[in-house]
Amino acid sequence: MNDKKFYITTPIYYPSGKLHIGHAYCTVATDAMARYKRLCGYDVMFLTGTDEHGQKIEGKAKEAGVTPQEFVDNIVAAPGGVLDLWKLMNVSYDRFIRTTDDYHVEAIQRIFRKMHDKGDIYKGAYKGKYCKDCEAFWTESQLVDGKCPDCGREVHDAEEEAYFFRASKYADRVRDLLLNTDFLEPRSRVNEMVNNFIDCEGGLQDLCVSRTSFTWGVPVDFDPGHVVYVWLDALFNYMTALGYQNDKYHDLEKFWPADVHFIGKEIVRFHSIYWPAFLMSMELPLPKKVYGHGWLLLDGGKMSKSKGNVVDPYLLSERYGVDALRFFLLRSFPFGSDGNFSNELLIQTINNDLANDLGNLVSRTTAMAEKYFGGTLPEARQSAPLDDELISLASGLRGRYEEQMEKFQFQNALEEVFKVIQRANKYIDENAPWALAKDMDANGVRLATVLYNLLETVRVCTVLLTPFMPESCGRIFAQIGADESARTWGSAAQWGSLPAAASVAKGENLFPRIDMAKELAELEAIQEEARKAALPAIEIEPQLEEKVDFDTFCKSDFRAVKVKACENVKKSDKLLKFTLDDGTGADRQILSGIAKWYKPEELIGKTLVAIVNLPPRKMMGQESQGMLISAVHTEKGEECLHLLMVDDAIPAGAKLC
Ligand code: MSP
Repeated sequence: MNDKKFYITTPIYYPSGKLHIGHAYCTVATDAMARYKRLCGYDVMFLTGTDEHGQKIEGKAKEAGVTPQEFVDNIVAAPGGVLDLWKLMNVSYDRFIRTTDDYHVEAIQRIFRKMHDKGDIYKGAYKGKYCKDCEAFWTESQLVDGKCPDCGREVHDAEEEAYFFRASKYADRVRDLLLNTDFLEPRSRVNEMVNNFIDCEGGLQDLCVSRTSFTWGVPVDFDPGHVVYVWLDALFNYMTALGYQNDKYHDLEKFWPADVHFIGKEIVRFHSIYWPAFLMSMELPLPKKVYGHGWLLLDGGKMSKSKGNVVDPYLLSERYGVDALRFFLLRSFPFGSDGNFSNELLIQTINNDLANDLGNLVSRTTAMAEKYFGGTLPEARQSAPLDDELISLASGLRGRYEEQMEKFQFQNALEEVFKVIQRANKYIDENAPWALAKDMDANGVRLATVLYNLLETVRVCTVLLTPFMPESCGRIFAQIGADESARTWGSAAQWGSLPAAASVAKGENLFPRIDMAKELAELEAIQEEARKAALPAIEIEPQLEEKVDFDTFCKSDFRAVKVKACENVKKSDKLLKFTLDDGTGADRQILSGIAKWYKPEELIGKTLVAIVNLPPRKMMGQESQGMLISAVHTEKGEECLHLLMVDDAIPAGAKLC
């Protein structure tokens, strides 16, 4: 029996729309951690899932004209949905929970009742500021500029009969947990929680944990009309998925308390204050750690569908491969802080680390082993100071990597691996195997040693990169002839683990170099298309002009006019010059900024509408005597204009009224 156990979770996702690269960030990090622990020999439980209740989902389903259950079923299971994305990203979760699963719903009802029977949940009336999008009530003092402190949207006054959780009762214990233990990391998040929510004016407020204004939630079984607050429902997923208060699973004893909950920084409040308080109320052991990672930002702001700035993981993995994308996410940003996503950084990381450093090392090493030793494993029978340096760096790598992985510092762990990869590339240049190969009789032994050391270095690095790039590492192992025993955690600290019978074969190029300028232009074009596609088809100026009285309106002199001549105005790409018959017998000249939409020749002979009693105006040195009337709107973000054209049977000069 394995007594090394590790239980790790991601947040359960709102299936309210398409997931983006920001969502994938946390899940990929959790996956890398789970794979790392499995590699270390742990019996791992990696839980993820979906958080499917609440007002937001109810509203979205209504908009879509389906039931909430149909709505979430579709987003969870449809192509491009949650399950599909995790499959694409090669996420090795062990269990997937949906909060609409019967066993979870029933468990939540039991938990709610228990807390109520104990007196920790009581009935009251809620008055406060409610953010519909975050499904959170806020006190006046928590608002930022009168808006929701999480999402910045409008909040509104709300009052309803509701049940409350006596969070205040647990304030001291939660404060102690946050300040005096390593429960919440990074530590930089601790003060914000304690100062803003526990030691704030009025102290830790009791939490409203039921709703009556909508129905899509777990019903409170002893008080019809109330549904359980979505966060109480959602947080307990971490335990119901192991079998807490249900018979579906039986892993609670084995895996609870969780080793770590990985979560994004905006939900630290729920995980570090209310979650432990709920568990204290239920007299259950607390998770060992909550880690609040940073956000992946785009142009310095949060990715969100409403801003139209989300990045599509399908598009990126199709172009660069899933492993490159996984690697990029964890290599480029420190896990605890925000990071700014850009196409440029992504391509740079792929080119520098994967193509130049790792890809080059693997392809040069395997190509030379093939060329000089026919693909058999060369023997190391000599040792030089240069070798000792590389060998000791590679042999000690596992320890340095482990130290960082245990602190969830993926970026640093990868940095350690890449230091060794870079050193190995330098070792090739220092030893110049191609020069040694010119005289195999004299240098054959040295050449074999050099290549052996390189193959071993590649192997050690590949073992440690496996949690990040499982598929590519499998291919590298195949190229260097590493069998199962040479791929293990133990072997990563065991220099010389490649089997003597290993056969080495240069395979296809794992990480082709990307032409930055060309790729950026293509990506920009694709993303621009996507942005446009996400824009509303037709937008019409929503604001009506201020009212004018009838007499003022009647003073505007609108006339039918016929186009006698029309031409572009020199040195202007906007203006067209019209010569018009306005029925007076004299020509009227009007200049109009519509060259973007019309060619002069297509307008000759048309009957248009002009306002003719505006004071004359000079444009580009020429006089305009009035204005042509057109209709304007926006289509897919583009401004559109149509000149008002009327029946040619209307004579020039006819007054429009
Ligand atoms: N349903 C809740 C979690 C309940 S856990 C008991 C929720 N869901 S969510 O879908 O909105 O977000 C899921 C996770 O994705 C959160 O941890 C959130 O921080 C993370 N991310 C969403 N956008 C992100 C970025 N742009 N960058 C990094 N992570 C972000 O919250």
